[in-house]
Amino acid sequence: PPARATRLVPTTAPGAFAEAARLLAAGGLVAFPTETVYGLGANAADPRAVAALYAAKGRPAFNPLIAHTHDAASARRLGHFNRAAGLLAERFWPGPLTLVVPYAGDDGVCELARAGLDTVALRVPSHPDAAALLAAFGGAVVAPSANRSGHVSPTTARHVMEDLGGRIDAVLDGGPAPVGVESTILDVTGAVPVLLRPGGLAREVIEAALGHPLARPGRADDARPVAPGRLASHYAPRARLRLDAGDVAPGEALLTFAGALPPGADRAAQVIDLSPSGDLTEAAARLYGALRGLDASGCAAIAVVPLPHEGLGEAIADRLARAAAPRPADETSASEIPT
Ligand code: TXA
Ligand code: MG
Repeated sequence: PPARATRLVPTTAPGAFAEAARLLAAGGLVAFPTETVYGLGANAADPRAVAALYAAKGRPAFNPLIAHTHDAASARRLGHFNRAAGLLAERFWPGPLTLVVPYAGDDGVCELARAGLDTVALRVPSHPDAAALLAAFGGAVVAPSANRSGHVSPTTARHVMEDLGGRIDAVLDGGPAPVGVESTILDVTGAVPVLLRPGGLAREVIEAALGHPLARPGRADDARPVAPGRLASHYAPRARLRLDAGDVAPGEALLTFAGALPPGADRAAQVIDLSPSGDLTEAAARLYGALRGLDASGCAAIAVVPLPHEGLGEAIADRLARAAAPRPADETSASEIPT
């Protein structure tokens, strides 16, 4: 992609949102904080801007994007909402939940952003800076995580600069993303919502609101579309991950939880505890920063202790499993679609 001078703008700077909205309207690429992770925004209605976004990330154009709006009413104009979708939107927007619904938005979200699907992924973020930018812009903004395709998602403006500096127009710096893992994605095109990606809104909370369990996602060879981001090997640090480790091997770093110190921990190259108090919400918020931090230490391998799978533990386990998965030799191979 062509080189661009990337401006780092604190969201507290006067006129920051108006200027960022102007950049988006002109076809620019602007990264901004959301409650989950930093997103890389482009005008959803502008195919040239969306094409530039795919190029800046190095993302295959057949992996669709999430369209973000500043309120639920705007999102609802872009899709058909059945009873379950309406209930979930009412209960959880704004917040870390993405709903996949049949598309109904004319040109509001261009075909390229939807990767040609007749469905659209919609989200109304709760982060005040994201809401302010979306309100200033007015239309829908597509925003994948603001990392190079296949890398760990960014939870700070500095992470975004490390990955995308020189490739995008601006980064709005609003401090660390509070949730720390991406939104939960539900396919609500049918009567029973399907969990496509565990994320920042825990399954248990959604199931309690619905009064019944979520359905399991179809396999990738099913006819129904899956979230391509679910496939193996994403969110990958350079170092190899060894999951559910009962010990620490020589030369390994340790990613631990709730103060657990398995045998060999004393000789670990580096130790990061995701939450000394055993709080899974804190662990999710710290996960990607920890992976980047351990990577920066230059260790070749990271031992990861077993973590509980309830609540946000499901999203953490999902991201760790993908970070540990075998890497495709070629990032753009059709069977492995990094996000
Ligand atoms: O928290 C988040 O969701 C962040 C912030 C920035 O909002 N965004 C994010 O976007 O994680 P991205 O592009 O990294 O992940 C979007 C996922 C991909 O796995 C994509 O395949 C899936 O959503 N997706 C998008 N449209 C879809 C559709 N119509 N049907 C099924 N999956 C879809
Ligand atoms: Mg992503």
